[in-house]
Amino acid sequence: MAERYVMSIDQGTNSTRCILFDHRGRLVSVAQKEHQQHFPRPGWVEHDAVEIWQNLRRVVPEALSDAGVDRGQVAAVGLANQRETTVLWDRRTGAPLGRAIVWQDTRTAPLVEELCARPGEEYFRDRCALPPSTYFSALRIRWLFDHVKGIRQRAEDGEVLFGTMESWLIWNLTGGADGGLHITDATNASRTMLMNIRTLTWDDELLAFFGVPRSMLPEIRSSAEPYGEARALLPGVSLTAALGDQQAALFGQTCFSPGEAKCTYGTGSFLLLNTGRDVVRSRHGLLTTVAYQIGDQPPVYALEGSIAITGALVQWFRDRLGLISSAPEIETLARTVEDNGGCYIVPAFSGLFAPRWRSDARGVIVGLTSYITKGHLARAVLEATGWQTREVVDAMNADSSVPLRQLKVDGGMTADNLLMQFVADVLDVPVVRPMVAETVSLGAAYAAGLAAGYWSDLEVLRRNWHRAAQWLPAMDPERREAEYENWQRAVERSLGWVR
Ligand code: G3P
Repeated sequence: MAERYVMSIDQGTNSTRCILFDHRGRLVSVAQKEHQQHFPRPGWVEHDAVEIWQNLRRVVPEALSDAGVDRGQVAAVGLANQRETTVLWDRRTGAPLGRAIVWQDTRTAPLVEELCARPGEEYFRDRCALPPSTYFSALRIRWLFDHVKGIRQRAEDGEVLFGTMESWLIWNLTGGADGGLHITDATNASRTMLMNIRTLTWDDELLAFFGVPRSMLPEIRSSAEPYGEARALLPGVSLTAALGDQQAALFGQTCFSPGEAKCTYGTGSFLLLNTGRDVVRSRHGLLTTVAYQIGDQPPVYALEGSIAITGALVQWFRDRLGLISSAPEIETLARTVEDNGGCYIVPAFSGLFAPRWRSDARGVIVGLTSYITKGHLARAVLEATGWQTREVVDAMNADSSVPLRQLKVDGGMTADNLLMQFVADVLDVPVVRPMVAETVSLGAAYAAGLAAGYWSDLEVLRRNWHRAAQWLPAMDPERREAEYENWQRAVERSLGWVR
C-alpha cells in the first residue's frame, strides 16, 4: 500500500505554506507563497484575504506534486494560522468586505482607551482572560461597524460573517458560499475577547459590550476532530485540525505537560507555557489562552507572553532602511562589532504587548553617538529580541511557582546563532532547538493526525522530538544585569509617545 502523509497548512503573517509530514514527523515537501503587506497609514496593517486563499490554492497542489504524492495518500489536513487577524465577508457571495485587519494593526487604540476604560481591565480578564488591547479581534469588528457604512446593519441582518484566518480558509476549503462550514477552534476563539475562557462559548455579556451580533460568529469547535471534507482543493480528504499558530507550535514542540514551554521566533515572538487543565490568571502582564482541545477531552490552557515585533524588526532593517539585503545578513553585520556600543532599539511599532500592554508606546533608538556603526545597530536589532524575551520570562517566573529551566525554541530567527546565544545569556537558561524547526506546521499536522487516527497518542509524538542544537548561558551576570537595566531605561522612553 502507498505510504500515507498528513498535510499541514500554515497561514502566517507573511506567507501561506503547505507541508507534508510522514509518520515519523519528518518533513516530506514544502510549498510556500508570500502575500502582500499593506500599510495604508501609520499603524495600519492589512492583508487581502482573497490573495491568501488564492495562494493556498497554489501551494497545496505544489506540495503534493513536489513529493509525488497523490491526494488519496493524504490521511488528513490540519490548519494553523496567524491569530486575531480579522476578516468579514458576505455570507451569500463569499466576497470579503474590505481587507483583513492584521493583528499588528493599531487603529483601534482610541477604542482601547475610550470604550474599554470604563469597565476596566479586570472585567475583561475575568471573562476572556485578555487585557484590552489593539491586538485582539473584537475591537476590530467594532471599528469596522463604526467606520464602514452599512456593515453593522448588514451584520445585524445576518448577511455578514466574521472569522480569523482559519475560519475564512475552512469556509472556502469546505465549499465557500456553496455550503462551506463557518467554524473556528477554541484556541483561535480565545484570542477574540468574545469567548468565555472557562466555558469555551461566546460570552453574551462581551458580545453585548462590543455590539457584535452572535449570528456573524463561527461555531466554536475543538482543535482536533473531523470538521468536514476539504472538497474545494482536496476532494475526499478530511480536515481534522485547526489551531492558532502559536498553540500549534507548542503542540509541535510536544509541550504536553504542565511546566513545558516554547518560544517561536517569527514576525513577532510568542512564549507559551503549558499550565494543564488550570486557567492560571496572570498577575504580571501575560495572557491566559487555550493551548489546545483534542476532541471531547477537556481543554489544556497556557500562559502566553506575546511580543509583537522581533523578526519584523529585521525585516524593517532590511526593507525600509536597506542596511542588509537578506535577513540572515543581520548576523554577519552584527558580528563586525564586539557589542552594541551603548545603543538600544525598542521596536514598539505596534505599541508594546506583553508584559506591558501599552498601545501608546512607539519605537525608539537610544544611546546614539558618532561612534555607532550599522554593525552596532544590527546588534541592537537582535538584542531587542533577547531583552523582550527576558521581560516575558521574568513575568512568567513571577506568575508560576516553578521557574523556567530550559527554553525550547523554533521559528525562522532560530537560525541566527548569535541571537540564540544572546537569548540563552540573558535568560540564564539553556535554549534548545528541535530537528524539525517547522513546529507550527508540525503541530497542526500532529493534531490532524491524532484526530484521524494516523498517530495513536501523545507519547508517539513525543518520541519524534529530537534535539538539533543547544545554546548554554555564558554571559557574566553583572554585565547581564547592567545591560538589562539599560534596556529597561530605553523602554521607559518609548512609553506614552502617542497622545
Ligand atoms: O498572534 C499573532 C501570531 O499568531 C502571528 O504569528 O508567525 O504568523 O507572525 P506569525
